[in-house]
Amino acid sequence: MSSLAGKTALVTGATSGIGLAGARALAQDGAYVFLVGRREEALEEAVAGIGAGQASFIRADVTEQSDLDRVSSTIEATGRGLDIVFANAGTAEVAPLGHITWGTTSTRSTPTSAGSSSPCRLHSRCSMKARRSSCAVPPAT
Ligand SMILES: NC(=O)c1ccc[n+]([C@@H]2O[C@H](COP(=O)([O-])OP(=O)(O)OC[C@H]3O[C@@H](n4cnc5c(N)ncnc54)[C@H](OP(=O)(O)O)[C@@H]3O)[C@@H](O)[C@H]2O)c1
Repeated sequence: MSSLAGKTALVTGATSGIGLAGARALAQDGAYVFLVGRREEALEEAVAGIGAGQASFIRADVTEQSDLDRVSSTIEATGRGLDIVFANAGTAEVAPLGHITWGTTSTRSTPTSAGSSSPCRLHSRCSMKARRSSCAVPPAT
């Protein structure tokens, strides 16, 4: 059995680069993956490459609170809890889960200027099932 079989993952910035590679790797290891990014066509392409049975996308800008709320409610509506969050889009300060505030989110203006700690907050809200779970944020560049 795959090591991540039965697990659910969320990857932000999943339309290219490290995020797309991460989403593919998680799916390859058996996880069901929600891909988040702003470009719908690229999201469709990424999900098609992984396989619609193992991935789906939610188009969202992670700097927009309303988009994050929609990501959260969309995942909730599927009945899945999140086991893994790869908060890859953008830059962030580091803080433990449960101590992340909206103010922790970086507003640094880079080509990937998303507040990547935001999905960790999202993660906290989405983890409805009692699971041991983790949230990863890439180093800021
Ligand atoms: N490449 C490196 O050497 C390196 C090294 C250390 C750390 N990092 C960090 O790793 C992360 C990814 O790097 P990368 O090189 O893979 O970048 P990339 O190829 O430019 O990919 C960035 C991804 O983030 C998404 N994105 C950007 N802004 C977003 C927003 N506001 N909301 C939602 N999605 C957003 C983009 O998709 P859409 O355009 O579709 O939204 C894209 O999928 C970044 O946080 C970067 O700072 C990179």
